[in-house]
Amino acid sequence: MAVEPLPSPRTAPPPTTHVAGGSVYFQGRIVPFAEATVSVATHALNYGTACFEGIRAYWNEDREELYLLKLSEHYRRFLRSTQLLKMHLRETVDELGQITCDILRRDGHRGDVYIRPIAYKSSPIIKVDLHSSSDALAIFAVPMGDYARTDGLRLTISSWRRIGDNSIPARGKVTGAYVNTALAVDDAISAGYDDCLMLTEDGHIAEASAANVFLVQSGTLVTPPVSDDILVGITRAAVMELARDRGLPIVERTIDRTETYQAEEIFLCGTGVQVAPVVEIDGRAVGSGAPGKTTLDLQDAYFAAVRGSDPRYRHWCTPVYGGMPRMTPAQNPI
Ligand SMILES: Cc1ncc(COP(=O)(O)O)c(C=O)c1O
Repeated sequence: MAVEPLPSPRTAPPPTTHVAGGSVYFQGRIVPFAEATVSVATHALNYGTACFEGIRAYWNEDREELYLLKLSEHYRRFLRSTQLLKMHLRETVDELGQITCDILRRDGHRGDVYIRPIAYKSSPIIKVDLHSSSDALAIFAVPMGDYARTDGLRLTISSWRRIGDNSIPARGKVTGAYVNTALAVDDAISAGYDDCLMLTEDGHIAEASAANVFLVQSGTLVTPPVSDDILVGITRAAVMELARDRGLPIVERTIDRTETYQAEEIFLCGTGVQVAPVVEIDGRAVGSGAPGKTTLDLQDAYFAAVRGSDPRYRHWCTPVYGGMPRMTPAQNPI
C-alpha cells in the first residue's frame, strides 16, 4: 500500500511540562515545592532505586469538580512497585489517596493536573542493595494538558530492546528502568518520529516508550499480554472495559513486529498519552493514514469517562472537592 503523505505542516507536539511550584507531600507533611529537596548522595538519585506513579485528574467545568482518575488502581500498583524494591511505606492506598486530594485542594486546581507520587531509597550511602537504605515518599502535582499529540502519532520500531522481566521488571514503575525508555524515545525523536514501539528481547512488540499499544485487526483489539515485558497499564484496562462495553472483541497475545505494518488501526494508551491514534509506523501508513474509527470511538468514550461526563464510568473518578470549599493558594498559605 502506498504511503499517503501526512498533512503538512503538522501541528506542534504538546509542550514539555515543567514542575516549578505547588504543594508537595514530603517527609510526612505538605510543604512548598522549594522546600522539598534531597541530598546529592540520595541512594535513589545515584542508583535509580525509586518507583513512581503518574496519575491524572481531569477538571469538569460544568460541575466545577476535579476528578482523580483510577486513584486506588494507581496506588495499588504503586505499592506493588515498592514491594519489588523491598520498600516499606507507612501509608495505605486510602491514605495515599487522601494525601493526594489534600495537595490538590491546597493549591485549588481548576484545570487538568498530573500527579507524581514517588517512593525512593533516601539514605546518603554508598551501597548498591535494596535493604541498607531508608525509604521515603513524596507526592507532587503539576497542571498538565496533553503529553503527546492525540491527532495522529508517527512511530518507529526502536533498535533498543525493552528490558526483560529478569533484568529490570517492566511491570514495576522503577525509575532506573526509564533509562531504557529515554534511550529509545530520544533516538525516535532525533530521527523525526513522535515515539517508538519497543520489542521484547525475543523480538515481539512490547509497548511504546510510556504507553501500551493496541492493534485493530478485522475489528478485534489485539494487545501484548502482561508477560511480554509491559507495564500493565491502568489505561489499558480502562480501554478494555470500554471496548467490552461496546461489544468489541479483545485478544491478549504475542504480536509480531510486522503485524503493526498491516494493522487496520493502531493506538497507544496510557495516563500521559491518554488514547492516541498512530497514523504511521516505520514510513508505512496505518490503515488509511488517518486515525481509524474504532480508535476515535474509544478516544471519545475515554475522554467523556475521565472527565466524569459518562455516568457509566463515574466509579473511575474520585472527586477532589466533593462539595468541600475550594481554597486558593492565597487563602491557604503553607
Ligand atoms: C512504560 C509504560 N508503559 C505503559 C504505561 C501506561 O500505563 P498507565 O495506563 O497505567 O498510565 C506507562 C505510563 O505510565 C509507562 O510508563
